[in-house]
Parts: sequence; structure tokens; C-alpha cells
Amino acid sequence: MTILAVPRVAVIVVAAGSGTRLSGAGPKAFVGLGEHSILRHALRGVFAGPPAQVVVVAPSDRVGDARTEADEAAGSRGDLVTVVAGGQTRQASVAAGLGAVWPDVQTVLVHDAARALTPPDVFARVISAVASGQDAVLPVLPVVDTLKRVAAQTVVAAVDRADLASAQTPQGFRRDILDLAYRDATAEFTDDAALVQAAGFPVFTVAGDERAFKITTPSDLERAESLVSPITPVHPAVRSAAPRVGMGTDVHAFGGAGTLWLAGVEWPGERGLHGHSDGDAVAHAIVDAVLAAAGLGDIGTQFGTEHPEYAGAHAAAFLGRTRELVEAAGYRIGNVSVQVQANRPRFAARRAEAEQVLSAALGAPVAVSATTTDGRGFTGTGDGGAAFAVAVVLPL
Ligand code: CTP
Ligand code: MG
Repeated sequence: MTILAVPRVAVIVVAAGSGTRLSGAGPKAFVGLGEHSILRHALRGVFAGPPAQVVVVAPSDRVGDARTEADEAAGSRGDLVTVVAGGQTRQASVAAGLGAVWPDVQTVLVHDAARALTPPDVFARVISAVASGQDAVLPVLPVVDTLKRVAAQTVVAAVDRADLASAQTPQGFRRDILDLAYRDATAEFTDDAALVQAAGFPVFTVAGDERAFKITTPSDLERAESLVSPITPVHPAVRSAAPRVGMGTDVHAFGGAGTLWLAGVEWPGERGLHGHSDGDAVAHAIVDAVLAAAGLGDIGTQFGTEHPEYAGAHAAAFLGRTRELVEAAGYRIGNVSVQVQANRPRFAARRAEAEQVLSAALGAPVAVSATTTDGRGFTGTGDGGAAFAVAVVLPL
């Protein structure tokens, strides 16, 4: 069994705002986006990233609702979630979240729930920049519009956009620096990077992502809706009391960028696999098997290019969403068996870890086996890897 250590990273998700520019009809975090709330989407992105304590900062009268949303998004990782009440300003809400961060945490990320579709790789970039020694890390996008300074409806000056960037979240900090900057803050800032910079610390930038845009106005919500448009079954599965079985396979060539991600875990030193997302053939075969069992089409139907939030995503994001789709269709996952055919990596030493990660994400037991193919075929020559999965689903 794998014992998970207390995480060294915490993500504070601020969701205590009132959302006046969106509609004024209730706190923004609980406004619907597709099948879920804005908060639930934001938390899905957080839980698809590296393991972390997750502190949700909610409006004081919605702490219970936020707890429910967080528990559903967390799945088996519910013990990593803390929910606290926010304050009158964003800064007061972050301060409340900071007060709930566990003592062992060394890196704190602060994320706007309103940036609900932020992909997991932005979290990973920010965390790794802090881990490599930066005090404060800000994801940014280049400014694309030509900018003007305007007064009384008249252009006063052109503004050179070359040295401007727009700031996003999650913003990451060394925990001691963020604590210090918050303790000494005397003015209000609109983000944490500004507060930390005012306290005299340098802020390093990394690439943000278009999908991390902040849902502020009704047209932002429309844009977000178009990215999460409801995914409908290809054909209604014939309902029966009997279990349903599905199979899935996936093949990827070795030679992809970066290190290998396979069976939901990273394999440092092993060659990566090509593919949309991280090329994790094991996760993709499982998704196909589970979707097929529930009559929900296949990975292309549910996670194709029209769902850009899954580009670059790891297994947990795909499997978590697959579980939601299956449950929405009226099934629960019984179990999954998946076999890898590849010369490398060697699974024996990490089988238990892979099974634990995959099972946690899917909410059902996943058994992983691996074999070589006696030097035959593309898996035998080491050109690529294949995965074959079988899944059972049961009516709810
Ligand atoms: N926020 C917060 N506590 C506050 C104000 C804002 O936790 N007192 C959070 C929001 O929930 C949001 C993020 O900070 O996730 C960014 O704020 P913004 O987009 O301005 O959200 P709202 O304040 O809710 O919206 P508005 O300004 O339109 O009222
Ligand atoms: Mg606001």
C-alpha cells in the first residue's frame, strides 16, 4: 500500500465574491456552468493537478454548500479539503484561507474560483517555478490588443504593449513570504502578486493559458459555457439490471516530448509517448472501456478537440470526468482490468502506486498488469506501447 505524505503544497481557491458584474443573482461561485457550478469546475482543475491541500474560501452563508461541492470534486481525496468563510474583499478572503493552511505546507497557490477552466498544467508550471527557487510566481498572457490611454473619450497616448502582460491565477508563493506580506499589508491589492511585490519581493512570470480567463461578465459565462457544452450519449444505453461490459485499447509511439506519463504516474528517465494530452495509453484505454460499457461512445466523442480543457491533461482529469459521465448516465463503475504491452517501463515496482492513483481517480478498483511481447511487433521492438482494458459498469 502507498502511504501518501502530507502535501507540501496548498491551493487556496477564493470563491467568496458576490459576482455583481455577472448577474448580481447570488454568489458567482455557485452560478451554473454546464452541468455544475463554477466552483465545481474550478475544483476539478485543482484536483487534476499535483496533490495539494485545498482550502476553499466561501461566502460565510454558503460554507456548507462549498463543502458539498468540494467533497464531490475531491472524490477519495476529501481529507485534503478545508473550507473557510471569506471576507469583504478578495484580500480578506485570501487572508482567511491562509489562516487555514497546514503547518507543513511550504508552497501556497492562490487561485480565483472564477477562473474555472484553468488547465492543470498551469498549476504544474507555477508549482515547479516555486520549487526551483522563485519567491513568487505569476502566470501571464501577452497583451494582444493595441492599447491607448484615454481621458474624456479622447486618446491621450498610445501605450506600448510589448512590456505589458495580463495577470492570471493560480499565483504561487513561498509560504513564509506570503504569510509575511499578508501580515504586514496596509493597502488593498487586486491580486496577491501585487501585494507580495509591494512587500519588496520579486515576482517571476510563467506562461498562463487562454482557458484560465476569469468569468466576470455574462459574455465570459457564455464563452465558458461553449467550452463545457453538455456531452450527450451517442445512443441511449439500453437499461437493464445486468452488469454491462466494455473494452478499450490504445496505442502510442515512443518519442513524445517530456518524460513518460503512463498509468497515471510519471516515470522520470523513461521516454515519453506521443499523443493528444500526455499520451497515457493506459488511461485512454480505461476511458474507452468504461465509456463503452455505459454506452457513452468513446474518448473522441467525450474528450475530442472541442474540449480543449483536456489538452495536456493527465489521467486523473480524464478518469474523474469519465466517472461523472457514467454516473450521470445512471451507472457506477464495478471494476477495471488493464494490461500494458511494452518493453518499458517495468511495472513491478510501481504497480501498486499506479493502481492506487487510477482507482482513486475512477472511484473503482483498477488492476494493472504488464507484459512484453517476446520481441515481436511494434511493442517488441520498443517503438511503442499498447494498453488493453476491460470495464464493468452496474446500474445505479
Ligand atoms: N473573491 C473572494 N472574496 C471577495 C471578493 C472576491 O473570495 N470578497 C473571489 C471571487 O470569488 C473570485 C475572485 O476572488 O473567485 C476574483 O474576484 P472577482 O472576479 O472580482 O469576483 P466577484 O468579486 O465575485 O465579482 P464582482 O467583482 O463582479 O462582484
Ligand atoms: Mg470582485
